[in-house]
Amino acid sequence: FAKHETCMKPLEGTSGKLRLLDQTLLPRKKVWLDIDNHHGVARAIKEMRVRGAPAIGVAAAYGVALAAEGIQSEGMGDFMARLSIACDVISASRPTAVNLKWAVDRMRRVAGGHSEVDSAKEALIAEAMAIHEEDEAINRRIGAHGAELIRDDSAVMTHCNAGALATAGYGTALGVIRSAVESGISVRVLATETRPFLQGARLTAWELSQDGIDVTLITDSMAGHFLKTEDIGCVVVGADRIAGNGDVANKIGTYTIAVLAKENSVPFYVAAPISTLDLSLDSGDEIPIEERDPKEVLEYAGVGVAPEGVKAAHPAFDVTPSRYVSAIITENGIARAPYGESLKLLSGTGA
Ligand code: MRU
Repeated sequence: FAKHETCMKPLEGTSGKLRLLDQTLLPRKKVWLDIDNHHGVARAIKEMRVRGAPAIGVAAAYGVALAAEGIQSEGMGDFMARLSIACDVISASRPTAVNLKWAVDRMRRVAGGHSEVDSAKEALIAEAMAIHEEDEAINRRIGAHGAELIRDDSAVMTHCNAGALATAGYGTALGVIRSAVESGISVRVLATETRPFLQGARLTAWELSQDGIDVTLITDSMAGHFLKTEDIGCVVVGADRIAGNGDVANKIGTYTIAVLAKENSVPFYVAAPISTLDLSLDSGDEIPIEERDPKEVLEYAGVGVAPEGVKAAHPAFDVTPSRYVSAIITENGIARAPYGESLKLLSGTGA
């Protein structure tokens, strides 16, 4: 990537092939993976070679298109039955980010609108490309709305990676920061390293420094200290799923930061596309939380750090109750409490 290229892109898709930048190897190695079937896409999502809620959604859409291309069947009934099995395989790859299910459901609906197999296949690849293209445009709109909340000459704390690498490009939380910087606001970013997968250390610190944005890496356990002792303008994070009442599931550790932000009177903002809303859920208690391999906790960057045989827990996400969320920034505008009403209005399902 060239320095100052403001929009690195982690996915490329065409008919018959999905290319993914392997995020498990960044920033030390830039390896592109070529995938030509939906099992490969599901595996790449599960292994977090592609990660971040919107990017997972885009990859899943290409996965459905690849599955369709591989189905040899004459009749639409048989085609739909096989496609549905493939959709289930992709949907099951990671449970928390609702964008995955959202994208797969959108692809199912497109297939269901056709009466001929060939036209369904063509429509599915076109739809995957549309989802891909829309995502970057959505991020830029999120960025433009969110930039209004960023104070000039301030520090912004972020957690995990909700950047270009987690989306089709530009990013949600990092899109807000990029957009602020583009409009002349001076920002310095405090990025938590985000144990155990190190999305902050490996991905956020990398993509911001590629763009020439001032970034300081901190460990997760330093967040409270800096919220108390430094003049932090706000916290901005992404989301994997937002329930109807505004409760937010995001990377493990987000809840801790939100509580500490409120304690220190620092606004806590969540930036996410409308596709991350799950208004079918009344509260965040209903959001499924992915449990990952404890090995990822027992090791640091692949090197064992704990005594042999010790147990470890690994919930990959937590839920921040909406009372800690100062605002939710979407492509359609900024929602504030009471979220039950504001989210419905922004998503176009309200009065
Ligand atoms: O486990 P990950 O890396 O997929 O988790 C990513 C996050 O928690 C992000 O904050 C979220 O998906 C939003 S990405 C724009």
